[in-house]
Parts: sequence; C-alpha cells; structure tokens
Amino acid sequence: MIKFTSVTKKYKDVTPLENFSMDIAAGETAILSGRSGSGKTTILALAAALTRPTSGNIEVNSKQTAKLPEEFASLFRRESVGIIFQNYNLMPNLTTLDNVTLPLLPTKIPFRQQRERAFALMEKLGIADKAKTIAGRLSGGEQQRIAIARALINNPPVVLADEPTSNLDAKLTENLLEIFAGIKAEGRTLLIATHDKVVTESGIADKIIRTEL
Ligand SMILES: Nc1ncnc2c1ncn2[C@@H]1O[C@H](COP(=O)(O)OP(=O)(O)OP(=O)(O)O)[C@@H](O)[C@H]1O
Ligand SMILES: [Mg+2]
Repeated sequence: MIKFTSVTKKYKDVTPLENFSMDIAAGETAILSGRSGSGKTTILALAAALTRPTSGNIEVNSKQTAKLPEEFASLFRRESVGIIFQNYNLMPNLTTLDNVTLPLLPTKIPFRQQRERAFALMEKLGIADKAKTIAGRLSGGEQQRIAIARALINNPPVVLADEPTSNLDAKLTENLLEIFAGIKAEGRTLLIATHDKVVTESGIADKIIRTEL
C-alpha cells in the first residue's frame, strides 16, 4: 500500500533520506520513529507526493508517484491520502467548519452531508463547539484537532499523520487513538510519525520503522 524502494531525497546540502526502503501492506498501521531531523516528515511528504524523490521508487495506493507531475499528484492526494501536517497547515482566516470541509469542496457531496460528516468528526475530537470560530484564534491543540478532522473527512484509504499528538493532552490522545483504531478496523492504512511513547506503546502499530540506524 505504501512502498518505498531505495528512495533518496537530496536537498542542496542535506540528504535526509538515502536508499530508504519500507513496505507497509494495505490495512497495516506503521509508526515512523527516529530523532528530530532524521527524515520522518520528508518520508510523509514523499508518500503524499507533495515532493518527489531524487531517486528511487514510491508506490502508494497502487500508484507510482515518484515522477508524478503536479497536476496528477494533486488528484492522487485528493483520492488517496489524508495528511495531518506537523504544522497543521490550516487556513487561519477560515472557521473550524470551513477548514474541516475544505477537502470536500471539489466533490459533489451535498453541503448538508458535508456538515454532518464534519460535525461527527468535530464531536469525536471535542471541537464541535468551535465550529464557527476562526481557526487562527484557536489553541494549538484545537488547531491540531482541526487538522486531524480535515485529514479524515474524505475517508482516505491512506492516512499520514505527522506527530498528531504533539499538542494533545492524555485524554485527547486517547480519543485520537480510538479514532485511529477505527480507521484500522475499517482496513485502511496508517503511517504515523511520532515521538509519543503513549502512541508507540498503545499497541496500535503493526510495525515500527526507524529512520536512523
Ligand atoms: N525543503 C527543505 N529544504 C532543505 N532541507 C530540508 C527541507 N525539508 C527538510 N529538510 C532537511 O531534511 C532533514 C530532515 O527533516 P525532516 O523534517 O524530515 O525531519 P523529521 O524527522 O521530521 O524531524 P522532526 O522530528 O524534528 O519533525 C533536516 O535536516 C531538514 O533540515
Ligand atoms: Mg517532522
């Protein structure tokens, strides 16, 4: 489902990934673990086809994405992946509800149904009462939960999560783990970059992939 074969990613002076391979089967949950700067976010960005590798092969949801031109990559993202960004990437001037329903804009799903889906997720994440609040005015943890809801609203077959509990307290972390367990039960594939022991030790992961030797 997510397969990297000898992937190298070079920037001008840094090579965060060199000959990196991993294979995550459909329905599996994997945790990416490694020190800061070891390439976790880079791997997620490559898996989402937000950037391309310098060399190597990447297959996600049966699509070869390593050389995908951007116009196809955006379609791939819309259909195949939900991404919870480390820095959230919210639209700070939009409300919580508008941020969460953003991925549904290009779809033909009726607005009423979009709202229902959004409220179901926002309720699970405890941010439904903030539906009308401008995202930029919310706390870090609230913004993180908007990012989570937005990533999941399209029911993507592949969910990529970058430090999704970094701003959540124990209770909210538990709620998110329940949501992830639900995603897993539906046979969807999850890749989570995390330093959080609570996540690593929760038993959610089928495997732990280390980004350092
Ligand atoms: N767009 C970029 N241009 C240049 N260098 C980059 C770019 N993105 C990442 N890097 C470098 O690649 C390395 C890996 O970064 P990455 O964000 O993947 O690490 P990480 O494992 O996610 O770290 P953290 O745990 O702190 O989130 C870092 O040294 C970083 O400076
Ligand atoms: Mg990172």
